[in-house]
Amino acid sequence: MDSFINSSGFFKGNDPEKLAEKFGTPLYVYNEDIIRDRMLRVANVITKYPYRANYSCKTNTNLSILKIALDAGINADAMSEGEMRMLLKAGFTPDRIFYVCNNVSADEMRFAIDNDILTSLDSLDQIRMFGTINRGGRCAVRINPGVGAGHHEKVVTAGKKTKFAIAEADIDEIFKIADEYDLKIVGINQHVGSQFMDPSPFLAAVDNLLRIAMRFKDLEFIDFGGGYGIPYHKLDDEKEYDMEAFSKEFTAKLDDFVLRYGSVPLFKSEPGRYCVAEGGVILGRVHSIKENSGIKYVGTDVGMNVLVRPSMYDSWHDIEIIRDGKVVGRDNAGFEKVTVCGNICESGDVLCKDRELPKVKDNDLICVLDAGAYGYSMCSSYNTRLRPAEVMVCSDGSIKLIRRRETFEDMFAFYEG
Ligand SMILES: Cc1ncc(COP(=O)(O)O)c(C=O)c1O
Repeated sequence: MDSFINSSGFFKGNDPEKLAEKFGTPLYVYNEDIIRDRMLRVANVITKYPYRANYSCKTNTNLSILKIALDAGINADAMSEGEMRMLLKAGFTPDRIFYVCNNVSADEMRFAIDNDILTSLDSLDQIRMFGTINRGGRCAVRINPGVGAGHHEKVVTAGKKTKFAIAEADIDEIFKIADEYDLKIVGINQHVGSQFMDPSPFLAAVDNLLRIAMRFKDLEFIDFGGGYGIPYHKLDDEKEYDMEAFSKEFTAKLDDFVLRYGSVPLFKSEPGRYCVAEGGVILGRVHSIKENSGIKYVGTDVGMNVLVRPSMYDSWHDIEIIRDGKVVGRDNAGFEKVTVCGNICESGDVLCKDRELPKVKDNDLICVLDAGAYGYSMCSSYNTRLRPAEVMVCSDGSIKLIRRRETFEDMFAFYEG
């Protein structure tokens, strides 16, 4: 594909240069249509049985994006009190929120209990803590299905090397603790990891979780987690995750389970990235181009404080170059190998290394693709830099500022003394 920006009509006729001038760079830009489309896709992964997709809001908690999820009729899961608060503020009722926590305090658990938000507990100790503060309560437990998956070891959340979930070997202990505190386990959940394009490990984990589910009586739901991948190499024509084929295989496994279990629980999944990654880009400005020991460095304002994925996981993000408001085509612009970096005082502040890009000039805009997930939500103020603004290209083509750029006054406001 020559340009995702052009082929998707990402800016809907708006001039990215004008957006950059008006809102400043770096700037997160989202496309409402793409986000809605992906949310509708995940809502329909299973159609034969009662099914709910939960948008995993750790991916992006901008209120406007949460409202799209609300509107698309999907539920949400939260990993923290802050995420629960954001979801409540966006209008999610407590019954549409699932709190999937890990190593949290009794106070944080109490927030969920006081707000009637169902909690998933991911260690024996956390079940005891929950039982102590909410004797006789309802809860779910997070099971390690023994199989993990993901684009990087840091995002594999099941299998042998992970801090998450409870091992199958400890299931008898779960029942013992539940009895002790009179807890009702109404659901089980898992999450194998993030950004898999091959569904085989996920489906193997589905088999395992369904086998384990047979040991739990009267489950109201089984939640299989998220992780569906998106094509980060789309400019090299990487194919999309084959949702249709996946749905078929997934459903066949549920057919078999439903026959054996004797009742039909609600089935759930928890996609995050798939819902929002492709619907977000970052516009950044080129401020300097230089050569050091034969390497050409393109210096921009998209630092690791704005998008940490490349330095944290060595993640790939396609980059398009925009000049005078137009994408510089990849066909005949003349490619050169460059290393694109940000303005943070770290050698690891690199967006991409030795990347073939159309020849870049000073003052060009770079457009970093697939930045809607784990982009803004992982931003920091490292080097005391301000967090960027976020704007939405709405379905009707209008532009809406959905989070203003931080100011130094915001930053100073935290300090005392
Ligand atoms: C428990 C849980 N559910 C869902 C997700 C969403 O994963 P993804 O964004 O890959 O779909 C995550 C992400 O790490 C997670 O930890």
